[in-house]
Amino acid sequence: MARKVGPDEQGWCVDVSGEPIVNKGLRNVCVDESKICFIDGSSGRLFYRGYRIEDLAKYSCFEETAYLLIYGKLPTREELNNFSDHLKEERELPDSAIRILKLIQKDTNPIEVLRTVVSFLGTIDPDKHDRSREGRHRKAIRLIAKIPTIIAYTYRIRNELELISPDPTLNHAENFLYMFHGEKPSSSSAKELDLALILYAEHENNASAFAAVVIASTLSDYYSAIVGGIGALRGFLHGYAIVEAMNQFDEIGTPDNVEKWFNEGILTGRRRLIGFGHRVYKTYDPRAKIFRECARKCAKENGGNIRKYYEIAKKLEDIALASKLTEKGIYTNVDYWSGIVFYSLGIPPAFYCTLFAMARVVGWTAHILEYIENNKIIRPRYYYKGEIEKKYIPIDERG
Ligand code: CMC
Repeated sequence: MARKVGPDEQGWCVDVSGEPIVNKGLRNVCVDESKICFIDGSSGRLFYRGYRIEDLAKYSCFEETAYLLIYGKLPTREELNNFSDHLKEERELPDSAIRILKLIQKDTNPIEVLRTVVSFLGTIDPDKHDRSREGRHRKAIRLIAKIPTIIAYTYRIRNELELISPDPTLNHAENFLYMFHGEKPSSSSAKELDLALILYAEHENNASAFAAVVIASTLSDYYSAIVGGIGALRGFLHGYAIVEAMNQFDEIGTPDNVEKWFNEGILTGRRRLIGFGHRVYKTYDPRAKIFRECARKCAKENGGNIRKYYEIAKKLEDIALASKLTEKGIYTNVDYWSGIVFYSLGIPPAFYCTLFAMARVVGWTAHILEYIENNKIIRPRYYYKGEIEKKYIPIDERG
């Protein structure tokens, strides 16, 4: 295999034959060192700050995992209480943000609503000019705390329901479900959401985290970086895949139709199986295993549509995992089963990408904070393949 020996006189990294090395989509490129997250893509292991995702899923809670990711260590009881209290204090949305929410057209995609309101919050944050580490932490906590309120209020405004103020006696997951539905959630529902938030909180240099860090690396502001992250998440090759996976199950309609649908659409290569495939994992995503079990329990306990979704998803997964997709390392990813868990919480599919953002804002924050501690503007190259020195022809002389 060619060895990287660049850069050449153009600044392009070239291999031993002198050809620039182009990593389309930045596949396999490390942009920096990091101590936040390790994905072992060949054996399907995931670690946040060195801790196995399975242990965090079993023993931690969203607030503790958020603290771990942002501050780099598990908190003491006192540190966790202070962090959780700080989040609770920052949940309220200012009236001006609520007015903006009410102004946005009701058929706007909820993730676009979130992107817009986060951008607005950046204009009124009391620390907007504070670039100190403490200032950045305060902004981060403020935003992590307010995102659930934005999402819940988006839902309630479009359904003409009264807005529910945050309840400081409830934790992050409980309070979100309370503000969304207008009634206190069962402990099992709150635990399911809490688990989902842990699983979605961080995932190394994914497209949205990278987008956020690219923006932060120009020494732009925290909110701009997060808005960029939300923008990247919104595509269905990334976070919007949760919504599209549910659309896919709807399109299939019944378990009986799975095989025909798969053979005609996926095996022929006409379309991609949503919730399958990953840039780093070449085996089953460990988060998807946890979501699969959670979806199985939800289907068993709830029946109805949840069971139908589960049965379609199970049959489709069985067929896909027995197909030639796995020869290419295409296995179930995190977005395949999570929508069924969110559905069982009574949340409509259009909101699933916002739930992803509600968790992932933590990972984006951790990466922004880590990167700018030792900042270098992110500015890669294109290998130019066009012409140069072309003669300029005045407009009236062009054919
Ligand atoms: N279904 C069918 N074929 C696939 C799929 C899939 N889901 N994913 C990749 N492939 C094929 C692709 O057609 C290509 O085939 P060929 O070499 O014959 O042209 C090959 O696998 C490599 O694909 P790629 O696009 O170069 O792979 P990538 O690493 O750039 O893409 C991905 C990763 C996640 C964008 C892709 O797997 C995909 O489109 N998946 C479906 C959308 C999805 O589930 N997104 C969620 C991603 S995970 C969590 C998150 O980020 O939210």
